Amino acid sequence: MTEHQRPANGLTELVLTDDVRDELLDRLLSLPDPVSDVDDAMARTHQIFATLPLPTLRAILDFGRHIDTPGVMLVSNLPTEPELPPTPSDGGPCVGKSRFVAEGVLLGLSGLLGEPVAFVTEKEGRVVHDIIPTAPGAATQTSQGSKVFLNFHNDIVHDPSGRYDISNPDFLVLNCLRADPVNEAETWYSDARDVLSVLNPGTVKVLRSPLFRLSAPGGYVRMFAGGKEVYSKPVAILSGPDHAPEISVAANGVRCLTPEATDAFDQLQAACRAPEAASVVQLAPGQALLVNNRKGLHARTQFSARYDGQDRWLQRTYIRRSLWNIRGRAENGSRRVHA
Ligand SMILES: [Fe+2]
Repeated sequence: MTEHQRPANGLTELVLTDDVRDELLDRLLSLPDPVSDVDDAMARTHQIFATLPLPTLRAILDFGRHIDTPGVMLVSNLPTEPELPPTPSDGGPCVGKSRFVAEGVLLGLSGLLGEPVAFVTEKEGRVVHDIIPTAPGAATQTSQGSKVFLNFHNDIVHDPSGRYDISNPDFLVLNCLRADPVNEAETWYSDARDVLSVLNPGTVKVLRSPLFRLSAPGGYVRMFAGGKEVYSKPVAILSGPDHAPEISVAANGVRCLTPEATDAFDQLQAACRAPEAASVVQLAPGQALLVNNRKGLHARTQFSARYDGQDRWLQRTYIRRSLWNIRGRAENGSRRVHA
């Protein structure tokens, strides 16, 4: 296998040595709270993560810049918070954190893929998202859920153009601060290239047709639509060449416009779970998952949540390769927060 080929249904894992981990930790311990000056934090963490061993650094950079690289990659043996506070039971953010090792890991990895970006409709416009189960959100198809399987989807954003798959993040990074109490949460990723190999040509043809309307994310619906469902204009689920397809499915629901579309969509969801397509990981502290938000779909199994300070806690960024082509959405001249 050449360095740019990806293993079919494989989860590429980069494991740092203990020496590299300890050196990163040493330098991240003095990182100031990144919220006050994200660009400063990006510069500091970029300098730190640029010292990664060359093969590791190159693998992460290649993950971000090339078409033929995997859609998902696990980085393990990363530094962890020396004193991790209890998981906020209100969904975060965590107030009064004195060190920012976790945020530094998240932003350092993010900076190798592109620019972190925030949306006012997602986690109140914060750049660092705390992904924590909450009691009110337990049964929802959102990042606060725990009691239900979070269906295969990619992260989309509402756009007045009616296309929700244009201004959305190119990548997500998920850094695990704390696993769930009984270690049952699984994150799944299915690469559209593998999904295509599972589906029959007739189904692919339907999925490539504009027969689907994506439901706008819950954050937008709550903030701007009074809780009423809002749908994209009719779009195809799959687009682009067979060797590098893009795929888009809303977590909040997809309206299929014909019986054939409904059947194809059901087959797509089944194909995402097929062993030939699905990569599965149980994230643990010290592990971060790099997710291409265009090459594939992700999902999460149900898991236990007790709201006692020991629940699952991930931090997440949304990343664009460039902020230029979403400049029209920038809030009041903000550099990173967008409508
Ligand atoms: Fe998601």
